[in-house]
Amino acid sequence: MDFKEVLDFIKGDLDTVTDGFREIVDSKKEFPEMQKMLSMVLLGGKMVRPTLVFLCGRLFNGDIELLKKMALSAETMHIATLVHDDAIDSADLRRGHPTINSVYGVDLAILLGDYLFSRAGHFVADTDNMRAMKLFTKTLGIISRGEIKQAVSSFVLNQNYDQYIERMAGKTSALFQMSTQSGAILANAPEAAIQALDRFGYNLGLAFQIVDDILDYTGNSKDVGKPVGADLREGTLTLPAAKLMKMYPGDNPVIEVFNHRNVEENIKKTIEMIKQTNIIEECYEEAEKYYKLACDDLAGLPDNQYRDCLYALAGYVIERHS
Ligand code: IPE
Ligand code: IPE
Ligand code: MG
Ligand code: MG
Repeated sequence: MDFKEVLDFIKGDLDTVTDGFREIVDSKKEFPEMQKMLSMVLLGGKMVRPTLVFLCGRLFNGDIELLKKMALSAETMHIATLVHDDAIDSADLRRGHPTINSVYGVDLAILLGDYLFSRAGHFVADTDNMRAMKLFTKTLGIISRGEIKQAVSSFVLNQNYDQYIERMAGKTSALFQMSTQSGAILANAPEAAIQALDRFGYNLGLAFQIVDDILDYTGNSKDVGKPVGADLREGTLTLPAAKLMKMYPGDNPVIEVFNHRNVEENIKKTIEMIKQTNIIEECYEEAEKYYKLACDDLAGLPDNQYRDCLYALAGYVIERHS
């Protein structure tokens, strides 16, 4: 089974998320500017997080109405973080389309992000499940903390591996964990299974973010739908650049970029140097390490088609090119 087959398998579930987003857009007829902004951001993602909610809930025969609300909540929260992230990074492209900040400016991007967080909160509240709601608020706090951590450590060169993992755990794994755990919680899964899916989400999130960080160096903007080389430009030290720094601690174009010297030229140099080493292979090995840890936690869960889908989704995370 590959990711495409997983998506086909739960297409009916994912369509409910698309429908929910269409309803939000349609409900803003009296406010055309807002309607336009919402239609720019709500659709077009890979839907990894709602897929996790549905699969983890279906794994334990969960109620589809509850899972649908949670899936909408997870994807809406994800989109809100992207709208804010693009404003912070001054990114002009997302999912192959212009960002809110590039068209309407940073102020409106912040406000639209806030609005989306509120919608995401409404969706989770609609489940009437206090544990899911607490998980939602906790996750929002962790993501914000992770993004703050990243912002205050931008253009800082001496960061260690643990700090990199901590940042990824905050900005990416937390939402994966919310998606996996909440599906299981809403399906009344046994506590041990909820905890296993929490660990699965944590490790899968790390693998996912490492691959995202690799694609920022190796991908092209057309395939990934967002600017490449952006991390270095923003002063975000991710695994590929950190490894290059370790390999050549003295004379290194990363140092130049972080000191704002000939930025574009040195970004090019960094990418070329990384391609001449085995750094990208090493980064993929690192992603694979977390992929394997994630799969370990699936072993004790019910052996059904939904678990097969989770294995396939995990495989996709380390093989994806967009
Ligand atoms: C992008 O997430 C943000 C990261 C955590 C790297 P996705 O790659 O899942 O974004 P969409 O939803 O498919 O656009
Ligand atoms: C974003 O990580 C995680 C969020 C909380 C939005 P990135 O900064 O790597 O995401 P992209 O590359 O802009 O999608
Ligand atoms: Mg970003
Ligand atoms: Mg990125």
